[in-house]
Amino acid sequence: MSFFCCTFAGGIITGIMNTQRRTFFLFLALLFLWSGCIHREPQYRIGVSQCLDDAWRQKMNYEMERELLLHPEMSLNTRIAYGSNELQCAQIDSFILERVDLLIVSPNEAENVKPAVTRAYRAGIPVIVADRRVTGDEWTAFIGGDNYKVGQLMAEWIKGQRDKGQRTTVFTVLEVAGLPGSTPATLRHKGMMEGLGYGEGMRDDITVKTVMGSWFRENAFTVVSEYLEDHGDVDVIVAHNDLMAIGAAEAVSKSASYQGRHIPIMGVDGIKPGLQAIVEGKIDCSATYSSHGDMVIATAAQILHGEPYKRDTVLETTMIDATAAYPMLGQYDAIMRDLETLHIVKTQTESKWKQLRTGRILLVAGIAVFFCLFLLALTYIIFRQRNLQREISNEILPQLEDMQEAILLSRKDEAFAQRLRQVVEAHLSDPNLNVEYLSSMLQLSRTQLFRRVKAVTGKGPLDYIRERRLIRADQLLHTTDMTVQQVSLELCFSSPGYFTKCYKDYFGHLPSVR
Ligand code: FRU
Repeated sequence: MSFFCCTFAGGIITGIMNTQRRTFFLFLALLFLWSGCIHREPQYRIGVSQCLDDAWRQKMNYEMERELLLHPEMSLNTRIAYGSNELQCAQIDSFILERVDLLIVSPNEAENVKPAVTRAYRAGIPVIVADRRVTGDEWTAFIGGDNYKVGQLMAEWIKGQRDKGQRTTVFTVLEVAGLPGSTPATLRHKGMMEGLGYGEGMRDDITVKTVMGSWFRENAFTVVSEYLEDHGDVDVIVAHNDLMAIGAAEAVSKSASYQGRHIPIMGVDGIKPGLQAIVEGKIDCSATYSSHGDMVIATAAQILHGEPYKRDTVLETTMIDATAAYPMLGQYDAIMRDLETLHIVKTQTESKWKQLRTGRILLVAGIAVFFCLFLLALTYIIFRQRNLQREISNEILPQLEDMQEAILLSRKDEAFAQRLRQVVEAHLSDPNLNVEYLSSMLQLSRTQLFRRVKAVTGKGPLDYIRERRLIRADQLLHTTDMTVQQVSLELCFSSPGYFTKCYKDYFGHLPSVR
């Protein structure tokens, strides 16, 4: 019964498994999908290649990250070249290899970074050039400040400074330029020179001396210190960015010839260190140079979504003096606080997502392992059931049948032996008792008789009859007064001599009377 139940249950499970196997695997697949679905990975990977990592770029990066909150379908991977054209080209090439969906580049130098930008563009990657330009037009969009206008604002300010006092001597301007190969440095210089009226040739009332600060505060400090030491006379300093303006101010304050004298200094950017320097009176003013990382990201989204976008966006610039610097510094602080909060929230969210995802993966893996083990156990049980069934029907049942048959056969033989004995015993004194007689009595052919008698007695019918007669003879000799002769006759031996011979052959001694 239990065997039947097990077989039945095994059969049902196999059936269920056969029909439900697909569903089961579908269920597992769905589980895995569920574990992956928890936090949709951004669809678009954007590579950002920044030439430097100063305060201005940090502001730009922050603006981009902030805007990215509105675009969860995009992710940023930012690499910084630390002012090296080679490193920047290598970083852009690695973005190409990684097949980013879009590239944002702020090139260190226009001509030297152009080959890598072109490679990316030709590889089919949309390229947004931000802030500094590259030469040529193999890029998708540009967003950056109006550097020529910045230069013109510098010229305006210089002229304003020159006009302040009654001057008889030539007015000397010390220009602390940015990296020569970068477009802002070139255009700011051009805008300034043309704004001063240098387009048509030299002017004799204003002279411009240029030193290279290459965007760095420390460089500016060194070159301005050297200039002051060598040439002394400077009326105003214009630096291509705030950091160099601060470096120049430090150089002036440390210069022996300028101790106590104020040299008006103008910077560019309007970033926090510059605003602070204006508020503290270290430099006089700055020109805004917007980074607008938000616009860069918005344009990236438009390009990636196949929406219309503006190819060339030039951002406005204005002058910042001491009056404007103070409220701007307040705004800047708010921006920085926002930046910190944004970073904290981002880190926390990412870590929570990670925990949740890991938890789900573990859960799904656990369920999958459980189901696999369950499936394995079921398969084992079913396999075992089938094997047992096979063993039973192929080996045990035939054995059982053989045994039953043997039992039945032996029963049949026993009955036959009994009947044979009865017939033989009843006719021991009958001279007609021979094979034919026995055959007819037992209703068997001679052959059948021979085979069956042999099977139950181990001897042929005649030998069996003789054996029975000899045993009876022996009984008679021992229990009656009959002589050997009488017994021989009684049991139908052809002669007493033959009886004696047969008796001796069978019992091993001569027949003797009691
Ligand atoms: C920042 C910066 C700014 C400057 C701009 C020009 O890296 O040097 O100070 O205005 O780049 O690209």
